[in-house]
Amino acid sequence: ASSNELAGKRILVTAGGTVERLDPVRYLTNDSSGKMGFAIAEAAANRGAEVTLIAARNTVETLEGVQIIQVETAEEMLQAVLSRFEQTDIVIKAAAVADYRPVVRASTKMKKNDGHLVIELERTTDILQTLGEMKKGQFLVGFAAETEQVEHYAMDKLRRKHCDLVVANDVSVEGAGFNVDTNIVKVFGEEGLVETMPLLQKREVANLLLSLVAQRMTLAAKE
Ligand code: PMT
Repeated sequence: ASSNELAGKRILVTAGGTVERLDPVRYLTNDSSGKMGFAIAEAAANRGAEVTLIAARNTVETLEGVQIIQVETAEEMLQAVLSRFEQTDIVIKAAAVADYRPVVRASTKMKKNDGHLVIELERTTDILQTLGEMKKGQFLVGFAAETEQVEHYAMDKLRRKHCDLVVANDVSVEGAGFNVDTNIVKVFGEEGLVETMPLLQKREVANLLLSLVAQRMTLAAKE
């Protein structure tokens, strides 16, 4: 689908899994491939939006009409998003951001000893929550990767992080979530379940999601 319903809108999309290094050659990350976020960025550009994609580790490369900012860590993603947030109309957070990072990042390769190794981790900043607390009219869409009680946790995220929509994928179902071309999602808004999507290509999920965003922003503008 391509229309101009998002013409003039500035959209910030995040994609991929952040990388938190232990030393120059070892790191903590997750299975996010960036496919979901890249599909949203592409669909938004097709609808006439001005799109910036903040991408952590990902398997997709370039996208026509999309400015891609490559980052590595949760902290770099936070700074990249914050520095653009004020000039943004819509933020869609499809990235899988690390909740913890190593307290110490060794500058040289860590050596092994005979005993156990204990690595201390500290919390990263929750980017979505930070944006939710700061927002002044921006339309905020969060993702929720859940394996159980999807609705309960999605609604909890929506309220706690002040999101306008939360897209929940049940990552325990085959064909949904991390590192596949398809997804199965439920979208939640303030009033509860808004849309259920069956197994679809991520590109199709992106299109349906953006239609929902455009529709809700139009309604909000008329109120
Ligand atoms: O990249 P793909 O392989 O295509 O996979 C897509 C996906 C499964 C990664 C994607 O659809 C998805 O669900 N992304 C969110 C994954 C996630 O981290 O969920 P969460 O429930 O831990 O986090 C909830 C929300 O808070 C997310 O919007 C996340 O971006 C945000 N968050 C989390 C932690 C943190 N420190 N900062 C954040 O902003």
